[in-house]
Amino acid sequence: MTEEKLLIKALEGKTTSKPPVWLMRQAGRYLPEYRATRAKAGDFLSLCYNSELAAKVSLQPIDRFNFDAAILFADILLIPQALGVQLKFVEGEGPRLSTINTQRELNNLRPVDEIDATLLPVYETVRILKSRLPNHVALIGFAGAPWTVATYMIAGKGTVDQSPAHNLLKHNNIVFEGLLEKITAATINYLLMQIKSGAEVIQIFDSWAGSLNRTDFEKYCIKPINTIISSLKKIYPRIPIIVFPRGAQQRYLGFAKKTGAQSVAVDQNISLEFMKMLQLETCVQGNLDPTLMVKGGNELIDATKRLRDEMAGGPHIFNLGHGITPDACPKHVELMLRVLRD
Ligand code: CP3
Repeated sequence: MTEEKLLIKALEGKTTSKPPVWLMRQAGRYLPEYRATRAKAGDFLSLCYNSELAAKVSLQPIDRFNFDAAILFADILLIPQALGVQLKFVEGEGPRLSTINTQRELNNLRPVDEIDATLLPVYETVRILKSRLPNHVALIGFAGAPWTVATYMIAGKGTVDQSPAHNLLKHNNIVFEGLLEKITAATINYLLMQIKSGAEVIQIFDSWAGSLNRTDFEKYCIKPINTIISSLKKIYPRIPIIVFPRGAQQRYLGFAKKTGAQSVAVDQNISLEFMKMLQLETCVQGNLDPTLMVKGGNELIDATKRLRDEMAGGPHIFNLGHGITPDACPKHVELMLRVLRD
């Protein structure tokens, strides 16, 4: 009998003797080996579509740190690109996309059954990873949540307050909801293919969920995520799902039940008291402050111990409150792991 993976155990709601640990954005620019491989690929998007090299960068943090999970190397903006949106990443500025603001632009997007033509290399990356990962490491596939992906498609770039998306939601709700439906359908197809190719866990990133008001949060964060999860579960009833509705504040409570998720990832603004309350209803992932990976030292050691100890009474996946930043120090990741594993 094969031993069950630590991450899967926690996602089944079990309390583990030590928490499984991985870091959001663990494959990335803070690692010199990532920067070298990206240079070899040419640029970030070429790396995403080069299955061999993409698998290699997913494995780099596993080789270096022996995390309990590997995350597929891709991006949440590959879905818009597969739907026909122009996408590029501008060095030092971030993503730039052609925008969707009118019914005509929405109609011009490709049909969902054509996205696999673009995304096939991503599924191949999943297959390669599945065949190369050590037995104890779980493979996480992912996608952006429809609201977060829509904010980029409407604005054509990252925005501080997502105001272009809020404006479309308010002033042209038909187009807004049509776009959300399109992204939802594409995401279901994309995640089903990732699971079919070997992904053992799925994480859905709703990085901008926090900017939705109470009513819109129900309609445009919870509802489409629930649609995605129930569609995946119809075909793969046992696939564990982690959802990260970043900035949801008190709305993290009840979120797992409303969406059907097995785990809720929380950001660093959430207190340990609140996390323990949330842990009574679901497996909680998070929420070490990512700046500690830049600072290191006793502050990092103390915060790591506190988070581990406070959450030890229930299912917990040790992670950051958001992605690790390019200025983080790999030595500090090692320090955190030493505290967790000793
Ligand atoms: O280790 C991993 O998690 C690798 C896979 C991964 C990437 N992006 C690779 C990436 C994942 C899961 C993501 C998620 C993602 N992408 C999110 C949701 C999580 C979050 O951080 O809020 C979002 C909003 C994006 C969109 C995106 N991709 C932006 C805004 C940017 C530019 C700014 C930035 O953060 O770098 C990216 C680029 C990106 N995605 C990089 C990587 C490794 C850096 C590209 C590079 O210059 O090499």
